[in-house]
Amino acid sequence: MANAERTAAIAAAMSDIRDIDAKGIDRDSVELIRHRLVELAKQKKLFPWSDFPSDETRDGSTLYLLSQDEDHRFALYVQSVADTTQAPPHDHLTWACIVGLEGRETNRRYATVAGQGPPKVLEEMVVEHGTGIAFLADDVHSIHVQGGSLNFHCYGHDLLDLPPRNYWSESDREWRTMKIRYPIVDARA
Ligand SMILES: [Fe+2]
Repeated sequence: MANAERTAAIAAAMSDIRDIDAKGIDRDSVELIRHRLVELAKQKKLFPWSDFPSDETRDGSTLYLLSQDEDHRFALYVQSVADTTQAPPHDHLTWACIVGLEGRETNRRYATVAGQGPPKVLEEMVVEHGTGIAFLADDVHSIHVQGGSLNFHCYGHDLLDLPPRNYWSESDREWRTMKIRYPIVDARA
């Protein structure tokens, strides 16, 4: 359950992230945001897996909202995956950072921007505790989890308020758009 220490740690991190964002978003500043979230994840005892159970009936993944501004900016979530989940290549229309708490989330980064044909893999990395990955609004990535994971997902804008994001449909061999497919649990203090 939420507690005062967790609430204060989240508030401090989001305050720093607002300050970083206010100076302008580029490759360097999203790396600073990623680094700040890695710092938050060091306080792992504040984010026990038992507080963020995954609902296996919902494509294997449950999203918990930890913080969000009233104007829908600066949304921090915990994504809890019971065992297996995947997300096809997609963009975010805002900056995004994923930072590990538990388990392993394989991320593929693509050299392709939405609408420019089939995505080509640029690199693959595993997000686990102590590591993370950062994206600009147009960057395309895919997610592959096996064996469960618990991660921070942080975005410049609330996922429910974003317009439909672009994703690559392998079966249709074309870029399409999607809204978020699963409900978000409000876990704010
Ligand atoms: Fe994503």
